[in-house]
Amino acid sequence: MQVYEKRRDIENHVAVLQRENKTIGFVPTMGALHNGHLALVRRALQENDYVVVSIFVNPTQFNNADDLVKYPRTIEADVTLLEGLSSEIIVFVPTPTEVYGEKMISTKYDFDGLEHEMEGKFRPGHFDGVGTVLNKLFTIVSPNNAYFGEKDFQQLQIVKKLVEIEKMSVKIIGCPIYREETGLALSSRNKRLTEQQLEESPLIYKVLKQVKNDFGIKSANKLGEWVSEQFKDNKELKLEYFEIAKVSNLKSIKRKQKDLKYRAFIAVFAGEIRLIDNIALN
Ligand code: PAF
Repeated sequence: MQVYEKRRDIENHVAVLQRENKTIGFVPTMGALHNGHLALVRRALQENDYVVVSIFVNPTQFNNADDLVKYPRTIEADVTLLEGLSSEIIVFVPTPTEVYGEKMISTKYDFDGLEHEMEGKFRPGHFDGVGTVLNKLFTIVSPNNAYFGEKDFQQLQIVKKLVEIEKMSVKIIGCPIYREETGLALSSRNKRLTEQQLEESPLIYKVLKQVKNDFGIKSANKLGEWVSEQFKDNKELKLEYFEIAKVSNLKSIKRKQKDLKYRAFIAVFAGEIRLIDNIALN
């Protein structure tokens, strides 16, 4: 398995593969790999000749400086995990300068309003950072297919919009959320949860499943009130937002319409660690 740090080196490797008509799948990550990431890599391996996995904690997408400093970094363990999967994996572990050059700034994107909903309201500049780094990484890796988890469903929709805006030919593929047996959606940030926070964390998915069950019986407003109630007295988990939104534009709804697709979205603080999750409602 090849591990590259330099942009030029991976670009050369990719160019050779392309000359041989090999297909390239891409799984961009910020490292601290877990089974959710590995599921994306396995899917990419099934559908492509080679798979590039990037490990890059992207500074421009962090609106909270402390979160950036404390984001788990486990490069050696990550590389060992990938080595165990397949020799058809190419790992890209660049420095910020290698990705951004001397000026680490993000592009201001208009993602048709998707960027103003939910995460966009609570994490100013986050999606500009995500869009900017993915534009750069897609240019370096030139993948045929790129794989993203549905845990970050808003990110997935925004990445689809990004490739439209940047007129890129990469196909964006969304993959199901990977959960612990307890229901907690896998996230690199879970590594920072205390025992008590972990013990309470199944509540998030439990609430989402009940919402799915009651969707169509209770109004979106009533469901929102019910969700707030579930977290009200919880000592470990603090609800930041809960929304039921249309999949097409991620705008929250008051009333359900026929023939439209909806999802419920939630963000919760466990101490200073922010956890997000979502569920398809129909
Ligand atoms: O989902 C993530 O881990 C990041 O947002 C991504 C897509 C790797 C961009 O930095």
